[in-house]
Amino acid sequence: MKALILSGGKGTRLRPLTYTGAKQLVPVANKPILWYGIEGIVAAGITDIGIVISPETGGEVREKTGDGSRFGANITYILQEEPAGLAHAVKIAQPFLGDSPFVMYLGDNVIQTDLGVFLEDFKARHADALILLRPVPNPSAFGVAEVDRKGRVLRLIEKPKDPPSNLALVGVYVFSAAVHDAIAAIAPSARGELEITDAIQQLIDHERPVEARELSGWWLDTGKKDDLLEANRVILDTTLEASNHGSVDSGSEIVGRVHIGAGTQIRHCTIRGPVTIGENCFLENCYVGPYTSIGDGARLVEADLDSSVVLSGARILRVGHRITDSLIGQRAVLTTTQKKPKALRFLVGDDSQIELS
Ligand code: DAU
Repeated sequence: MKALILSGGKGTRLRPLTYTGAKQLVPVANKPILWYGIEGIVAAGITDIGIVISPETGGEVREKTGDGSRFGANITYILQEEPAGLAHAVKIAQPFLGDSPFVMYLGDNVIQTDLGVFLEDFKARHADALILLRPVPNPSAFGVAEVDRKGRVLRLIEKPKDPPSNLALVGVYVFSAAVHDAIAAIAPSARGELEITDAIQQLIDHERPVEARELSGWWLDTGKKDDLLEANRVILDTTLEASNHGSVDSGSEIVGRVHIGAGTQIRHCTIRGPVTIGENCFLENCYVGPYTSIGDGARLVEADLDSSVVLSGARILRVGHRITDSLIGQRAVLTTTQKKPKALRFLVGDDSQIELS
């Protein structure tokens, strides 16, 4: 069994953050989203992993993630020249995949559930495809499945205006080599992409065994700001362990589960977990509230924030108002000279500068 992680694409929905970086590398609880998928795959016993990358952000993905040794895996990078669709990504990965069955994992998705259970199911049922479904309140934003009373998949439609059910396709699939013939038989969709949903539909239409399972546990599709903040909240809530590798002065109060990285200095601050703070940060006279992640090298002075993700090297200096539900890009600088609004909500790209005056 191999794995294919899709980490190409354009990431337009997280702009401006993704003008400068890969959306799959945006950190959740200070770890790139992509790495959760790699870890889940390795935990299920798969170590031969291909990662599809784009010309724009592939270098960064490769540099940060490496050859896989840090995960106990062997990673092969596969360049996709254009984001021509999920099935197109599988097509160009065929030399890597060969005739092996494989897990396909979308690099901006994270699931809590143990993958091993689905892999065993896939083998036991001799399936050609196993898909995971999850009821959602906004099915039009996803691939949607229509299933019969026995749970058999009848039809899959990509982002339908008029969804036949509320069952969204989760971005984790298991395929046999039969999917390659199915992909060879489909044409680009109206939006010009080779859709994996059409390839699976092709398998269904040819009466090949396609299994569907409903996913329990959380599933996070981090494609948009609020989804990313929700992912940050869920992961801090469920996985963060308290530990202090930095220095905290006696004027500071640390409450609940807080992780503080090496070389980080905390002075006169109140920090209420769950909060994770990276390495070599400096925080002075700040309040940091629950569900906040602060990246390496960030500097916060007289800042008051909660439920936010602050990326590495960002600076928040004397912003005298609560910052909430915000995503602050790498090296962004936020400062203010006057105190007026009650709350501020931001999506700030890398290298931005904001001054409230
Ligand atoms: O998140 C689940 C949804 O993911 C499913 O419900 C949909 O059926 C499926 O099409 C997909 O929809 P998205 O609109 O979220 O796909 P997105 O364009 O965001 O791409 C998902 C990942 O695959 C992302 O990490 C980028 C990567 N990708 C995407 C395309 C189109 C590639 O590597 N190459 C590509 O050509």
